[in-house]
Amino acid sequence: MRNVRTLGLLGTGVIGGGWAARALHLGIDVIAADTKPQMEEWIRSAVQNAEPALARLTAAPLPPKGRLSFTTDLHSMAERADFIQENIPEQLELKQRVLADVSHHAAADVIIASSTSGLMPSDLQRDMVAPERFLVAHPFNPVYLLPLVELVGGNLTSAQTIAAAGRFFTYIGMHPLTLRHEIPGHLTDRLQEALWREILHLVNDGVATTGELDESIVYGPGLRWAAMGTNMIYHLAGGESGMRHMLAQFGPCLKWPWTKLEAPELTDQLIDRMVEGTQEQAAGRSIRNLERLRDDSLVAIQQVLRQYNVGAGATLRALEERLYSDAGERTRATTSTHELTRIETQVRAEWVDYNGHMSDFRYLQVFGEAMDALYRRVGVDDAYRLSGRMLYTVDTQISYLAEAKVNEPLYATTQVVSVDDKRLKVLHRLHRVRDNALIASSEQTHLHVNTQAGQASAMDRDVRRRLEILLTAQADSARA
Ligand SMILES: NC(=O)c1ccc[n+]([C@@H]2O[C@H](COP(=O)([O-])OP(=O)(O)OC[C@H]3O[C@@H](n4cnc5c(N)ncnc54)[C@H](O)[C@@H]3O)[C@@H](O)[C@H]2O)c1
Repeated sequence: MRNVRTLGLLGTGVIGGGWAARALHLGIDVIAADTKPQMEEWIRSAVQNAEPALARLTAAPLPPKGRLSFTTDLHSMAERADFIQENIPEQLELKQRVLADVSHHAAADVIIASSTSGLMPSDLQRDMVAPERFLVAHPFNPVYLLPLVELVGGNLTSAQTIAAAGRFFTYIGMHPLTLRHEIPGHLTDRLQEALWREILHLVNDGVATTGELDESIVYGPGLRWAAMGTNMIYHLAGGESGMRHMLAQFGPCLKWPWTKLEAPELTDQLIDRMVEGTQEQAAGRSIRNLERLRDDSLVAIQQVLRQYNVGAGATLRALEERLYSDAGERTRATTSTHELTRIETQVRAEWVDYNGHMSDFRYLQVFGEAMDALYRRVGVDDAYRLSGRMLYTVDTQISYLAEAKVNEPLYATTQVVSVDDKRLKVLHRLHRVRDNALIASSEQTHLHVNTQAGQASAMDRDVRRRLEILLTAQADSARA
């Protein structure tokens, strides 16, 4: 499979827009193709709406944003894309026809994936050219924040296609879950559908409102599900003897009429109850407004889970490791030694205090990120840390010189001031982009330690040599 630089999107509605936002954010160009020309404006605004949440998801250094283009010519998209993701309406004949057509125009090494919520890949790939490069890659809304993507191969899909697609989705920060067998509804929609059908029954029978049923999830099981799935949660519910005890205790309930599963008839009355119930819950808030609340909560949850390396937080952590390591590579490859290490950032909404200025501790955060960029540049990376060696900050002096207000674009540079076997001194300078004004500077001393022994130790010779090269080159250029 090709190295994916350009993602082609077939269908640019809710899901196509979500794919675009995720890929662009992580530096992949996107060619969005839709039969309706008015979807260009829609997808551009969808990408823009995703931006605030995506910008807060991680502080790890991102590559330059991908470029978005739009076309109504599906063939031209297929000829230029390295990977094609189909997101047109959930109709088997339509998808079969469009996928077959597009497959004539995409080179045989271009993977074509479908976002279908429940159609079977063997049916979808039936009439395609090179059907072995086709798979289902089922994402979840909002695609730009939820990492899960279910990968499902059909009868004709090759194992290489599944593996290569998995690598691409991991690269763009997702968690690929490969199904062992194709089944209608894949795995997750089977589970969601079971809950959904019970909800429809309970509303239909007048037992509960949509709001009460949402409360029953949001205040209880929903919180647990972000960290552990139902099976592990029930394993814990069995006490010390876990799942075996849980099944012995609650097994008999399985025979009781607790679920119906067969959906009720969608009568006008049921539809009205569902619509009126959810309108009442929305309480006048627009869809965009609610999406923002959902997105902000999803970002916050993933950041907390990252601390515990759990679920979606582990996926975020893995993405960040890759971003830091790629940024280190980029700096090594593109920055000459006399250039100061530089990071770009922006004063985010949650960084300002009651005066409307960037809070004191956020300066430390930015200087921490700047230090990380220097570390990566000289080879102090995850492998180095895992080898039991690291530099710890032992002294920080900060001078605050000018204001930084919300959304202000900033850049920080880091200069090596001195280095010996165990000590490294640096000078960070933080500037506003708009007028280059110096808004803060920080002198820091870092001590090299053996992390297992908890004692100062000599740094790696190559790391020290790279720091010395920067020290000399940057001192020379400062004099020049
Ligand atoms: N909405 C969700 O929550 C969700 C979640 C996961 C997967 N999916 C799946 O993603 C797919 C798309 O769903 P959606 O919610 O984005 O639908 P949508 O209706 O929002 O978007 C579909 C888009 O496809 C375009 N389209 C229609 N025919 C086309 C054609 N022949 N060629 C190119 N474009 C065409 C439409 O103009 C529209 O912009 C479906 O298969 C759906 O099952 C949806």
